[in-house]
Amino acid sequence: MTAMPWWKSGVIYQIAVSSFADSDGDGRGDLRGIIGKLDYLSDTLGVDAVWLTPVNTSPLQDFGYDVADYYAVDPRFGTMADFDELLGECHARGIRVIMDMVLNHTSEQHPWFAESRSSRDNPKRDWYVWRDGRRPGRPPNRWVAMVEGSAWEFDAASGQYYYHAFLPFQPDLNWRNPAVRNEMLRVVEFWLEKGVDGFRLDLINFLFEDEACRDNPRSFGWRPYFWQKHVRDRSLPESLETARALRRLTDRFEDRAMLGEVCTDDPAEALAYAGDGGDTLHLPFYLDFALRPWGAKPFRDAVAWMEGHVPSGGWPCYYLNNHDLKRTFTRFGGGSDADLRVKVAAAMLLTLRGTPILYYGEEIGMRQSAVPRGALDDPVGKRYWPLEKGRDGSRTPMQWSADPGAGFTTGTPWLPVDPSYPYWNVEGEREDPDSVLNWYRALLGLRRKHLALQTGTYRALDSMPRGVFGYVREADGRTVTVLLNFRGRTSEPLRLAEHAASSTEVLLSSRRRKRVAGGRDGLRLAPYEVLVFGATAPDEAQR
Ligand code: NOJ
Repeated sequence: MTAMPWWKSGVIYQIAVSSFADSDGDGRGDLRGIIGKLDYLSDTLGVDAVWLTPVNTSPLQDFGYDVADYYAVDPRFGTMADFDELLGECHARGIRVIMDMVLNHTSEQHPWFAESRSSRDNPKRDWYVWRDGRRPGRPPNRWVAMVEGSAWEFDAASGQYYYHAFLPFQPDLNWRNPAVRNEMLRVVEFWLEKGVDGFRLDLINFLFEDEACRDNPRSFGWRPYFWQKHVRDRSLPESLETARALRRLTDRFEDRAMLGEVCTDDPAEALAYAGDGGDTLHLPFYLDFALRPWGAKPFRDAVAWMEGHVPSGGWPCYYLNNHDLKRTFTRFGGGSDADLRVKVAAAMLLTLRGTPILYYGEEIGMRQSAVPRGALDDPVGKRYWPLEKGRDGSRTPMQWSADPGAGFTTGTPWLPVDPSYPYWNVEGEREDPDSVLNWYRALLGLRRKHLALQTGTYRALDSMPRGVFGYVREADGRTVTVLLNFRGRTSEPLRLAEHAASSTEVLLSSRRRKRVAGGRDGLRLAPYEVLVFGATAPDEAQR
């Protein structure tokens, strides 16, 4: 049996640091808060790694994705000593720590940018992307920022425009400048030396733009960003090359991994970042999977695509929730079926071939919160309300208990706690055998027990009835079969005869089924039923 690296066999849990646990009562989550919840992560859930949203010093105008000092921890999150302690405590429990790393842009409040904008001949001028306007009052070209409007911001004092792919307070670094490249690699090395186990690289395919700033060809879409085909302002080969350089640097340290946010509408581009022989990112994100509408076919197709395209040195990575997406509890329809649906989704996520990423709160069925306008924090929501309500709804405080502040804080939370917290919270769900939390725990436990589920091969089952997604995982001659009914009605009979030879011991059933009759056709799945059966004995788990 070959030992698989942790980033292939493990489960990653994303912590939105501001929203997870507040240790000092200031209403914002912090590192010591996370330290206080490590037993939950290791014993209650048993995850293998945590990914922390940015903790670097930042004005927090964009949830920390606007860094003002890459070598420090924001005091609202704690101190560097707290970070070291968190790292040590995680490692003592066998949990890896993945840091969010924002290499494409800084905050406008970063001292580098203050210097850069101070005058045209400042030595740091070329650390950012500055250009003259086409003519007075007109930006250098037609590039638009992801959050709308021109991607160029005029700086009246120096009479030039600076480029920002996202929001105006997030000026893009000029990666064509070797000094910038060296400095950013130094940042990465600093944290690797500290002992972090990896990075989640923000907007990694955005590092470079066309040097001549040529316009993008036109395209179609529902908002201005999609009216252009983004071939000149992102997805340049130089960004991919930089990802390789980052990989070479990371490989100098033992057992580290890089997750990459390849922000694109072309999943093939994301997989290009998976490298051909493991020479680029370890786990590029697959946004297309996360955005699929509810249904067996959309997910079966997404997985088929991934299985058909992932390069030999690459490895799939799946997630359904994160800090930018509407929570699945709501996105998959909400209503009275919501918890049944998220249970099906969880079973899929935790049994597919690929590394699953969970987002804090999904394991207790947190819903998308309706954050009132006056309480918004996300600049996207503030700017486009009510058309676009922003991302705050998926960032509300973790619901630990029915206590005031949901057990998240003793103070006033930075975003309002969702009113569902008295009914949906960790403490209450622990006691309820049918809770979403206990379902996730069962799945995580199952995955830990069976090597086939961690690193085994994947084979889709053909000819499943409508609404059913079925597949077989296999490792070391042991198979595990997963059947998921995505519909709220009993399925047509399944043809399972082909599994006659395999064990039919039930490993997990949402219906408390005891056995599956091997070799017999005709099994019907109940509404939203999840059924996992197969391997007769637990494999040697890796952890
Ligand atoms: C992607 C991050 O996930 C998002 O939250 C952030 O606003 C943008 N990158 C800009 O850094």
